[in-house]
Amino acid sequence: MRILKPTEKNIKLCAKAIKKGEVVAFPTETVYGLGADVFNKESVAKIFEIKKRPKFDPLIVHISDRSQLKILVKKIPSKIKILIDKFWPGPLTLVMEKKKNVPDIVTSALNTVAVRMPNNEIALKLIKYSKTPIAAPSANKFTRISPTTAFHITRQFENEIPFILDGGKTDFGVESTIIKYEKKRFYLLRKGAISKEEIEKAIKDKVIDKKSKKIDAPGQFKKHYAPLAKVIIIKDDSNIKEDLKAGYIAFCKKPKKKFKMVKVLSFKKDLKEAASNLFDFFHQFEEKGIKKIYVEKISEKGLGAAIMDRIKKAAGV
Ligand code: TXA
Ligand code: MG
Repeated sequence: MRILKPTEKNIKLCAKAIKKGEVVAFPTETVYGLGADVFNKESVAKIFEIKKRPKFDPLIVHISDRSQLKILVKKIPSKIKILIDKFWPGPLTLVMEKKKNVPDIVTSALNTVAVRMPNNEIALKLIKYSKTPIAAPSANKFTRISPTTAFHITRQFENEIPFILDGGKTDFGVESTIIKYEKKRFYLLRKGAISKEEIEKAIKDKVIDKKSKKIDAPGQFKKHYAPLAKVIIIKDDSNIKEDLKAGYIAFCKKPKKKFKMVKVLSFKKDLKEAASNLFDFFHQFEEKGIKKIYVEKISEKGLGAAIMDRIKKAAGV
């Protein structure tokens, strides 16, 4: 596995690898992805193999140009166009009716496909130079934490991936928001980097939380994004004992009691900063071999909803 600086030459090298059917790790503005040519079934199958991901969990297809949408989806509902205009390129994934040429392995044989245009120059160039949309899940093993740096990827993979394009720490640190428009209603399939409130403001309509287990977003298992440690959600440190073996993730100020490792998501209570730190802290605690992590609850407003969603999933609650 080679970690490459994102020079033109290296991005072109990775695009060539994608064209040849290899799987390449690359940065996006949310988390790193593990990408393959969407139309190459063998390469997409390789992603599932490398990640140990169940085949019933479909992938997001990444595009660099709106014209690529036409080769993936049957039609773009006008309501969806509003979201595209407002949020692309950006951390918003839109689920639409797919065209037949999108391989079933990408969509787990659903009749829809999830698409997004990432707001990251390296990702956009990689897609453009590959001359194909790129199917890519987050570059972590199934059920493990998503990577927000190239180093995080090296903690979970060895030579299964030939190249990682290193774009530094990702901007948002939580995955994209997933929206589906169906029978004239908007559904939130996954909380993410763009808050439900922002979307409702753009469409001047309500977004409905999709709670159905039967799975519109099959990847939404309870225990997902999980660190190897046991995660316990608390209000603050007032009701727990000092624990010199445990890790502690505070929201905006350090706890009074002592722990093996303490991290603060954002001293200035900035949710964007908090989101971008969360997975990185989990990775750092894992590195230290910490087996128990206390995480403070935060308000589920705006981006806080996606952050709490990831914390709850890490805790398996
Ligand atoms: O920010 C992100 O979205 C990152 C970066 C790499 O783009 N990608 C990512 O992919 O988080 P992944 O594979 O970890 O999560 C994809 C989610 C899964 O929960 C899956 O169920 C859902 O997208 N999904 C994919 N296709 C779908 C479809 N046709 N209908 C509903 N949900 C779908
Ligand atoms: Mg993932």
